[in-house]
Amino acid sequence: MIISKITCIGAGYVGGPTMSVVAQQNPDIQITIVDVNAARIAAWNGEDLDQLPIYEPGLKEVVAEARGRNLFFSTDVDKAIDEADMIFISVNTPTKTYGKGKGQAADLKFIELCARQIASVAKTDKIVVEKSTLPVRTAEALKSILDNTGNGVNFHILSNPEFLAEGTAIQDLQNPDRVLIGGENPEAIEALVKVYEAWIPRERIITTNLWSSELSKLVANAFLAQRVSSINSISELCEVTGADVNEVAHAIGMDSRIGSKFLKASVGFGGSCFQKDILNLVYIARSYNLHAVADYWEQVILMNDHQKQRFAEKIIQTLYNTVNGKQITFLGWAFKKDTNDTRESAAIYVADYLLNEEASIVVYDPKVSAEQVYKDLDSLGTRSPEDNRRLVTVVNNPYAACRETHAIAVLTEWDEFKGYDWQKIKEDMKRPSFVFDGRKILDRQSLEALGFKYYAIGE
Ligand code: UDX
Ligand code: UDX
Ligand code: ADP
Repeated sequence: MIISKITCIGAGYVGGPTMSVVAQQNPDIQITIVDVNAARIAAWNGEDLDQLPIYEPGLKEVVAEARGRNLFFSTDVDKAIDEADMIFISVNTPTKTYGKGKGQAADLKFIELCARQIASVAKTDKIVVEKSTLPVRTAEALKSILDNTGNGVNFHILSNPEFLAEGTAIQDLQNPDRVLIGGENPEAIEALVKVYEAWIPRERIITTNLWSSELSKLVANAFLAQRVSSINSISELCEVTGADVNEVAHAIGMDSRIGSKFLKASVGFGGSCFQKDILNLVYIARSYNLHAVADYWEQVILMNDHQKQRFAEKIIQTLYNTVNGKQITFLGWAFKKDTNDTRESAAIYVADYLLNEEASIVVYDPKVSAEQVYKDLDSLGTRSPEDNRRLVTVVNNPYAACRETHAIAVLTEWDEFKGYDWQKIKEDMKRPSFVFDGRKILDRQSLEALGFKYYAIGE
């Protein structure tokens, strides 16, 4: 099976960068990324490559190389489905906000809509690749919809989970640890292997059955998140016992069985995947009555919630047990550096907690818009949109954000924060001048020398 045309449904954080790199590496394959969101597609097609809908280091260079050559962005979903030999589904699968499984199960309505659309449009055989994170056995549902509502053509379903991390997406795509392809049909699997073989050594391309592939994605994210919760639990112990969590992380990380990555204590993990995937795992385990398994993984989320709350409480307690009417400056709103993505960012929950105490918050993030900050807070539904706008100000200058403020809280590990003129910030701040470093990126010694009261997680 030779693939000459690929369509990807969903031009988001996964579909956009992934297919851009696939296009860059396979100039002979024509790739069309489609989305129902016309504004998003317009932004992908825009002249100014600094205004792409998502920010990822290195992305604009890849888009510049491939766009218009063999990479196209469009809103014409039907046409793109009709023409393709292979269709990636890369739409969002948020946690359900209603009904059975609310707050835990993945909402598959977008996936199902895609499947129905593919089935109704396709007039030739297609390979359908699930790229979104999905609960185990989604492929089965996909196949059932495709086979029963289609026009009698053959569909082969593959699971090809994406392991890229935001902020390093292009690097991760260009040089992945592994590519995972799950499926039943050897020819369909081989067709997708060939696409990746254009730039990835064959031995790093793993093939498994569908269910193993789907489950591996959930488990990979659950293990990564578990490491963060584990080190965060130790950070609290360090704070009361006088150990330093960075020293502990370094000491255990040198054990090759443990490994040194993903041991950075923080204000809590965020992002669209970790929480959602663990909730999914918990939901699946419970649905098979595996309560011990479900409870075990649920604890990773509970520890993460605890870490965010603990950070907010530390701020309140340090500011003499009241933040009412006090200004607190947030440096960073994104869930990690080098991305404009704020989904499940710890900053949102820390802010919510402080706002309940009537703090007034000023936010500065180099890549997140004011509109997004308010959207994130409004979506919690804790208070009215008017109150969020009354209590929260978003500015685009870090020095202005820190002026006359009672305390600075670092919520995202943006590199630029380290290089600020902290002396100047200190001069313009209220005294005592508190810094709460939720990312452990600032230097205690130099801040203390300037007269700051410095608190960092796990010290
Ligand atoms: C452990 C630590 O490895 C060692 O660093 C420390 O100094 C003492 O405790 P030990 O208990 O001798 O060493 O053996 P280890 O190889 O760690 O195995 C411990 C248990 O875990 C065994 O019962 C082993 O069968 C089990 N295990 C280990 C698994 O079930 N699966 C694994 O993947 C690894
Ligand atoms: C994650 C997985 O890494 C990726 O393989 C999968 O495809 C999608 O989910 P992502 O959420 O983009 O990627 O970023 P990641 O780097 O994993 O960080 C997730 C969160 O954990 C961030 O909030 C980050 O700040 C936090 N984190 C990560 C820590 O607090 N400490 C660490 O040591 C590592
Ligand atoms: P992810 O992080 O998984 O990429 P995003 O929300 O960034 O999630 O992107 C998913 C994209 O999928 C969105 O741009 C959304 O508009 C698009 N989408 C969802 N459902 C459909 C559909 N049925 N057809 C086309 N695009 C869709």
